[in-house]
Amino acid sequence: MAASFSEFAASVKSETAFTVLAVAKQLIAAGKDVIELEIGDSPFPTSPAAREAGIQAIEADHCHYGPSLGLPDFRAAASDYVNREYGLETTAENIVAGPGAKNFEQLFCEAFLNPGDGVLVFSPYFPTYPPNILRRGARVCLADLKRSNAFRPNLEDVQKFLEEDPRPKAIFLNSPHNPTGGVAELEDLVGLADLVRGKDVAVLSDEPYDRMVWRGQHHSLLAQPGMLEQAVGAYTFSKSFSMSGWRLGFAVGSAPTVQMLGKLTNSALSCVPPFTQMAGAAAMRNDCALRDTQMQEFRLKVELLVEELNRVEGVSCLMPGGTFYVFPAVAEICNRLKITSHGLAMYLLEGADDAQGVACLGGECFGDAGHGFLRLSCAQPNDRLSQAVAFIAEAVKKQDRIDAYLASHEDARLAQPYEMD
Ligand SMILES: Cc1ncc(COP(=O)(O)O)c(C=O)c1O
Repeated sequence: MAASFSEFAASVKSETAFTVLAVAKQLIAAGKDVIELEIGDSPFPTSPAAREAGIQAIEADHCHYGPSLGLPDFRAAASDYVNREYGLETTAENIVAGPGAKNFEQLFCEAFLNPGDGVLVFSPYFPTYPPNILRRGARVCLADLKRSNAFRPNLEDVQKFLEEDPRPKAIFLNSPHNPTGGVAELEDLVGLADLVRGKDVAVLSDEPYDRMVWRGQHHSLLAQPGMLEQAVGAYTFSKSFSMSGWRLGFAVGSAPTVQMLGKLTNSALSCVPPFTQMAGAAAMRNDCALRDTQMQEFRLKVELLVEELNRVEGVSCLMPGGTFYVFPAVAEICNRLKITSHGLAMYLLEGADDAQGVACLGGECFGDAGHGFLRLSCAQPNDRLSQAVAFIAEAVKKQDRIDAYLASHEDARLAQPYEMD
């Protein structure tokens, strides 16, 4: 007899982007022309200094265990990087290496949460936040981000959480924000810091899109007075340096927090491969100019996608403050076709045409507040982006195809019309 899985494991939902990615790859293998806008991966190759340093490190056999906190040189390079880029005042003692930013969600929860603690999460949210909170038996407390507020975190929600939750212990902040593209402005961070300062509350400041801010500049919560003590900043090489497959990132926090995260890293994965850290250190030191040029290319892609989507009847899309995602409101289309937004996304991929498809995600993959939206990543050549929008505009007019899709996908049927913004 097979042993039963834990209730926790059975309850975990995986990141839908990877599920849709698998469907898209299957369709592509079967000969379909799919424009892939579902996953947030960079289309650029790994930046050159990183690749070169990584190859050299492997040839020099830096392929053994290393310190759980990370290589001293990597920690020093990361400290210089965040000091230079965001005006933080860190040393290598404030840095711990990790296999990307995602792993720090789990370690942060292990470091700070006890069962029953409340964690404020802004919704829509990155889908792996809740499982990592629930893994510790803590409670997810949602506050909706509003399109009318450009998807910025609302400080009244933070205050309410701190005052009314029976055991407020942590806040997950993600700016620039996936999936909405919202960016917390400096005044939001000043206000948030004022609200949590001196309380027994920790903040995970998840900042993978730190180099993709399209208006003004990126600010880190950790630059606010006292926040290095109370917050953990999570950074990654996946987006800015096109290194998603290397699995490399780092966290920034106070020296005791970093020691704790190092201990938890030790218990979970021993260490991050030394050769990837050597590649990352080279990227931070040598590839920033190229990084900035590539980020500007993303910005133009985002602008293109927003402009073209806004020409489609029934679609309304804000220019995101940051990230390489756009998050158009499609509630009008969904209500007219009586299809959920994720149903619409899957219809565009599977049902709208036999030869072509567009892969994207329904906003509800990021929580209930995402109903009535789609998330499209813009990591494709410009002509493919335009082609995708033209495809969507035509696909939503094919009533016979939509009827056939709904007939065979009952779960895609919209029970109640979405509220219109
Ligand atoms: C908000 C957010 N957090 C964390 C991650 C994880 O990135 P990685 O683990 O590749 O560094 C992503 C990736 O898409 C993200 O969007």
